[in-house]
Amino acid sequence: MAEKLNKDTIKNDVKKHYSDAIQVAENKTGGCCSSAVTAGKYAKLAGYSEQQLSELPAGISVTSFGCGNPVDMLEMKEGDVVLDLGCGPGLDLFLAAKSIGSTGKAIGLDMTPAMLAKARENIKKSGLTNVEVREGEMEDMPVDDNSVDWVISNCVINLSPDKQKVFSEITRVLKPGGKMMVSDIVATGDIPDEIKNDKLAWSGCMGGALPEQEYLQLASDAGLIEVSVVNRLVYDRTQMAAFTTACCSDEQSDGFTEAQVDQLAGKLASVKVTGTKK
Ligand SMILES: C[S@@+](CC[C@H](N)C(=O)[O-])C[C@H]1O[C@@H](n2cnc3c(N)ncnc32)[C@H](O)[C@@H]1O
Repeated sequence: MAEKLNKDTIKNDVKKHYSDAIQVAENKTGGCCSSAVTAGKYAKLAGYSEQQLSELPAGISVTSFGCGNPVDMLEMKEGDVVLDLGCGPGLDLFLAAKSIGSTGKAIGLDMTPAMLAKARENIKKSGLTNVEVREGEMEDMPVDDNSVDWVISNCVINLSPDKQKVFSEITRVLKPGGKMMVSDIVATGDIPDEIKNDKLAWSGCMGGALPEQEYLQLASDAGLIEVSVVNRLVYDRTQMAAFTTACCSDEQSDGFTEAQVDQLAGKLASVKVTGTKK
C-alpha cells in the first residue's frame, strides 16, 4: 500500500502540480493529458455559459481548472468585496469583478507563483482596476478580519491537508452576514486508501475529497450558519473518466488506470456549498 502522505508533502506536490499544469494548459510544454483543449472543455463542463466565457480575457477558459461555477447564483452588489480562494488564472475572479463594479474589490488568493503570474497577465489584458491577486495559503490568509462580503472558491478546498483551518479562516475574513459559496469535490462513497495516499490523486482533487457530511460539519464547526449543498453532480463512469483525464499526469505517475476509474465512478461529486457568517 502507498505510504500515508504528510501535510508538507501534499502542499509541495499540489504547488508543483499546478505550476506544471498552467504551463501545460497553455501548451508550453505539451505531452500531458491535460491539454489546452481538455481544459477548455472542462470550463464548459463546469457550467459556464458561452456568454459568460465570451466576456472574459481572451484564452482564460482554456486555463480553467474548476469543477463548478461558484458565481452563478450570487447576488453580488456594486461595491462588494469578493475573495476567491485558489483563484488560479482567475476565471471566477473576473466574473465576480464584473458584477461588483469599479467601487468593489475582487481579491484572488493563490499559493502557486506560476498561477499568480498568469492571473496578473489576465488582469492587465482585462483592463479591470478592481482586481488584485495575493500570494498566500488559504490556511493562513493574508486578508483582514471581517473584511469581505463573499468568499468564493472553485475546486480548491479539497486540496488542503488542513480543511478545518481553511473554514476557520473563511469565517474570520467574512463580514458578519457575509457569505461563502464554493464549488468543490466531495466523496459520496468510500474512496480507497490507495487513492487517498496517491500524490496525483490528491493534486487531481480526488485524494483529499472528504465525505460530504464531514465537509459540511467542518464549515459549521468553524462558525458558519445555514451551511448547505445547493447543487450536486455525482460523477458517473463517463464523467469520472473525463475528470481523471483532465487531472494532469506528470513524470511521477502513469496516470489513472481503467480499474481506478471504475472504482471511483459514483463515489465523487462536484458540489456547490453555501454558508453565512452570523
Ligand atoms: C484545481 S485549481 C483551481 C483554480 C481555479 N479556482 C480555477 O477554477 O481555475 C487549484 C488552485 O488552488 C491553488 N491552491 C491549492 N492549495 C492551495 C492553498 N493551500 N492555498 C492557496 N492556494 C492553493 C493552486 O495553486 C491552484 O491554482
